[in-house]
Amino acid sequence: MLRKSIIAGNWKMNGHLADSKEKVTELVNLLKNLDPKADLVICPPYTLISELYRILNDKNINLGGQDSHFATKGAHTGDISPAMLKDLGCKYVILGHSERRVNHQESNEIINKKVKAAIGNGLIVILCIGESLEEKNFNKTLDVITKQIEESLPKTLDSQNLVIAYEPIWAIGTGLVPNLEDIKIVHAHIRQVLTKVISKEQADKIRILYGGSLKADNSKEILELEDVDGGLIGGASLIPADFVAIIKNSK
Ligand code: PGA
Repeated sequence: MLRKSIIAGNWKMNGHLADSKEKVTELVNLLKNLDPKADLVICPPYTLISELYRILNDKNINLGGQDSHFATKGAHTGDISPAMLKDLGCKYVILGHSERRVNHQESNEIINKKVKAAIGNGLIVILCIGESLEEKNFNKTLDVITKQIEESLPKTLDSQNLVIAYEPIWAIGTGLVPNLEDIKIVHAHIRQVLTKVISKEQADKIRILYGGSLKADNSKEILELEDVDGGLIGGASLIPADFVAIIKNSK
């Protein structure tokens, strides 16, 4: 099955207007003579989206939010709705990132509602899943991931609207990555669970990204793996040259 890869940058809570505009301009220049094989996405903080959209609008680099609420509007201080992201020009939204699950106590049940709302508003969801170090050490990785998929995904789904990002929590921002065999096993398992939860036909088309300390120097071997359809990149996406090096390594 041929799936087009996605290389997505998660800027997290980094960047002000001036330096971020410079950053994406540099990125656009570095990509000028490249014909990336992957779909490209940047998920900056909300405050930067509309300004960056002006620069990226016609450049084949899509924008995404880092979270969105399940409600359409209302009394939710500090939150943002999927329709608001769409309004700013976003095509994607990251949901269920471990930093949201841990720091904001987001349960699979809440994430399920968010996924439904985001898809309902025409966004492509990048759903993050992954185990903690403790869960890994107790050999619970596949169980945790199965439960996250089963509970976070709505019953009816179209593969076009969903991307899964496997991000072991212990690999995020630490410089540690699982060995290649483990990544292969987990990604194959994710596709198997998606087959059960949705359908084989849809599951075959869903892109499954790897995330967690994905860097220029380890991206080639990871992105080449079967069932790895791209990457979700934190730290290295803040350095345009590094991000481009990863893009070059995508299949
Ligand atoms: P990292 O972050 O690449 O800095 O490890 C990845 C992520 O949290 O999405």
